[in-house]
Amino acid sequence: MSQVTNTVRFVLDGQIVEAQGARRTTTVLDYLREQMHRTGTKEGCAEGDCGACVVMVGSLNAAGTGVDYLPVNSCIQLLPTLDGKSVKTVESLQNADGTLHPVQEAMVACHGSQCGFCTPGIVMSLVNLVQVNTSPSRQVISDTLSGNLCRCTGYTPILEAAAQACQNKAALKLQDSADVPLLKKIERSGVPTLSLEGDLIVQPVVRTRKGHEFVSPATLAEVADYLVKHPGATLLAGSTEVGLQVNKKFTRPDHIVYLGNVAELKKIHDTPQAWHIGAVVSLTEVESLVAKAYPDLAEVMRRFGSPPIRSTATLAGNIANGSPIGDSMPCLMALGSTLTLRRGDQTRTVALDKFYTGQKQTVLQAGEFIEAVILPKPQAGQIFRAHKISKRFEQDISATCAAISYKLTGGKLTGVKLAYNGLAPSPCRAPKLEAVLEGKVPADVQAADLDAAITASFVARDGLRATWAYRSLVARNLVMQFIEEPTVEAA
Ligand SMILES: Cc1cc2nc3c(=O)[nH]c(=O)nc-3n(C[C@H](O)[C@H](O)[C@H](O)COP(=O)(O)OP(=O)(O)OC[C@H]3O[C@@H](n4cnc5c(N)ncnc54)[C@H](O)[C@@H]3O)c2cc1C
Ligand code: FES
Ligand code: FES
Repeated sequence: MSQVTNTVRFVLDGQIVEAQGARRTTTVLDYLREQMHRTGTKEGCAEGDCGACVVMVGSLNAAGTGVDYLPVNSCIQLLPTLDGKSVKTVESLQNADGTLHPVQEAMVACHGSQCGFCTPGIVMSLVNLVQVNTSPSRQVISDTLSGNLCRCTGYTPILEAAAQACQNKAALKLQDSADVPLLKKIERSGVPTLSLEGDLIVQPVVRTRKGHEFVSPATLAEVADYLVKHPGATLLAGSTEVGLQVNKKFTRPDHIVYLGNVAELKKIHDTPQAWHIGAVVSLTEVESLVAKAYPDLAEVMRRFGSPPIRSTATLAGNIANGSPIGDSMPCLMALGSTLTLRRGDQTRTVALDKFYTGQKQTVLQAGEFIEAVILPKPQAGQIFRAHKISKRFEQDISATCAAISYKLTGGKLTGVKLAYNGLAPSPCRAPKLEAVLEGKVPADVQAADLDAAITASFVARDGLRATWAYRSLVARNLVMQFIEEPTVEAA
């Protein structure tokens, strides 16, 4: 790695901030509040759920002429990931003459705030939206706010405020031209390596006995090389799990390897048969990638966390994390997805339905990581259905999510692939249920046969989010629905 620094540099409202002396696990939220005194940004839950901490994180656009923003839950993002980027907080919105952003004006005019705790996060989510969409529908506004919880105002005035703000189109865009040259100035000439040791940021060559560091490679080869040398290092992609562990379990990984600057991993490689989705492609990008081909998968993605979660979270992170209720995996398994795994300069391909060996256990070897997720494109006549059952519509965890892929050949179900989360220690295919379905006319499939296959396939367990009786009933009913309504034929 060619460049070493002990300073995290980012742009805040026309100024370069040089952050020194932070812990490698200091969150963006804590740094903004405690060091920059930007206390408008609030901490509600510290786990990505409430949206009180939403800020906008900006990067130079591809042409280098402007700034592209993402809404981000600053409570679960680590400060070193800000290096080379810009950040906007609610304080950034006030103009030099004291006037407010139209979203803020409208929130006041429409009585969109009572106690005000949620308000900065709501404002930042909406301001982020109107940077790219100045005429959002009510549905889009509602989706945008799905990760912002307000417990006293109620959402009607907030939705009205968003619509009203958009009447003042000329004033919606942030005045951020001063940030552009500064973002160019802080671009790293070579590979950015941020090294943080113990509680302090230090040069990695000056390792103390603890040997802690945060590295941010720029190439795939460097990630692979680093992991071979440090197989116990923690990979950091979208930080929506790692950041949670830092806040809630007080984990302090010795070596953190941030993948967000690796150009090869940000790409989607499009072949006639499949999309090769790089390990740091965000779920927001995946959602739009699959919208036409697999609408049910796009809908599962729309209900995955919230916009600020999806703007950084990745498929590879979801898969590697291996939660029994991870939502992307049943869909990807039913679609026959495979993974490209890399260790050093060696790669291998593993089917996702062979990836898990137990609860949060995988076939990944020491120093090996997921380079890409390979998602097959739809075949002629293929039908794909998926649905997530959760107590809340969005920003909630599955009781179960089921996904199926099949064709109707001569009126019979063929090539059936069915997968679930929430029924077993890891997301998995359900071969006994597939066997019940394969070769049958949908109308001939008996619920009792599916029930028997569910009983034979899974260990009955009540969980925090649902009883086994509920989960198993839903698991059967979803299949019945998927085959009775095969109307969503993959495009
Ligand atoms: C508020 C909130 C809501 C959520 N909602 C949902 C939901 O609806 N459905 C759902 O399934 N999940 C949900 N999650 C969980 C989480 O967002 C997902 O698992 C997400 O996809 C993780 O991706 P990430 O890039 O943020 O992973 P990170 O946090 O960066 O990493 C997660 C794990 O994967 C490892 N890892 C990351 N990349 C790689 C790689 N390329 N190779 C090998 N290992 C790697 C990391 O070391 C870490 O152990 C939610 C989380 C939060 C905080
Ligand atoms: S503080 Fe609740 S989402 Fe960050
Ligand atoms: S105004 Fe009180 S939580 Fe939203």
